[in-house]
Amino acid sequence: MMHFLQETDFTTEQARAVFNSAAKFKRLRSSERPAVLAGQTWAMIFAKSSTRTRVSFEVGIHELGGNPLFLSKNDIQLGRGETIADTARVLSRYVHGLIVRTFDQAEVEELAKWGTVPVVNALTDLLHPCQIYADALTMAERWAKGGDLLDSLRGRKVVFLGDAGCNVANSWLLGGNHFGMQVCVCGPKGYAPGAAVQALLAKNGWAGRYQYTTDPREAVAGADVVYTDVWVSMGKEAESADRLAAMAPYQVTAQLLRLAKPDALFMHCLPAYSGKEVTAEVLESPQSIVFDQAENRLHMQKAILAALAQQPRS
Ligand code: CP
Ligand code: NVA
Repeated sequence: MMHFLQETDFTTEQARAVFNSAAKFKRLRSSERPAVLAGQTWAMIFAKSSTRTRVSFEVGIHELGGNPLFLSKNDIQLGRGETIADTARVLSRYVHGLIVRTFDQAEVEELAKWGTVPVVNALTDLLHPCQIYADALTMAERWAKGGDLLDSLRGRKVVFLGDAGCNVANSWLLGGNHFGMQVCVCGPKGYAPGAAVQALLAKNGWAGRYQYTTDPREAVAGADVVYTDVWVSMGKEAESADRLAAMAPYQVTAQLLRLAKPDALFMHCLPAYSGKEVTAEVLESPQSIVFDQAENRLHMQKAILAALAQQPRS
């Protein structure tokens, strides 16, 4: 059973097909709606807030002919201590797939272990793979110039600034390497990539294959993409004051962006806190493609769901 719990769950060739299928879903959205999820229900278990992920999955499943079933974690017995193993086995008797947003990556792995339907990681504290696939498509649309989308990413430099130990930074380390990109992460001491992501990189033969610096000017030199995320991720609210103080020097400003390549793109997974991790000037500038990113969540996730739904079942 194929799941999408981390970026490398699709091989390079599968990822290439997923990118091409996402581009096709986007192109044909208003004229053609292949009903690859016809008759299916996909449950969406969310233990954290969401705007983009929730709405893009619900709309995407509907457009593929399926039924999205949103389950806030606290509305089901999981929130009252029913085990993940039992939840996975019960839901697998009803639905055709599970989309899960939670804290611990081990929870999505446990659901995949006990369930008998595909599981999609819709963000954990460790990774946000749907985001990185959609973001990479957003870059490739600009770079491929009619050639292969995935190949257009090869050798490009993406620089992540701010909380260099967060889920989105981790996903860039894993996804960027998977797509043949150069990845640089940059943030204050104490917020560097952690042991869990290092282990994932090592498992794929990519130990240490990234640049890490605490100097934002050094980081953005030669960047094709300057990327940032919130300084206080969901679940880290108690650390807000320390984080805001430590990360202040890593704000993406117009001055900093000028040190990247002249045609560099600014990207942010959103939600953005203008005046914190990025200035309003950069967020609203022509270099900023944050709403194209957000839109591509829909097209990319439809391609991911189609790939999982169409896999051969034993
Ligand atoms: N980028 C992202 O995942 O946004 P939401 O938290 O709104 O889903
Ligand atoms: N790092 C952020 C991403 C939100 C989409 C968080 O986990 O809150």
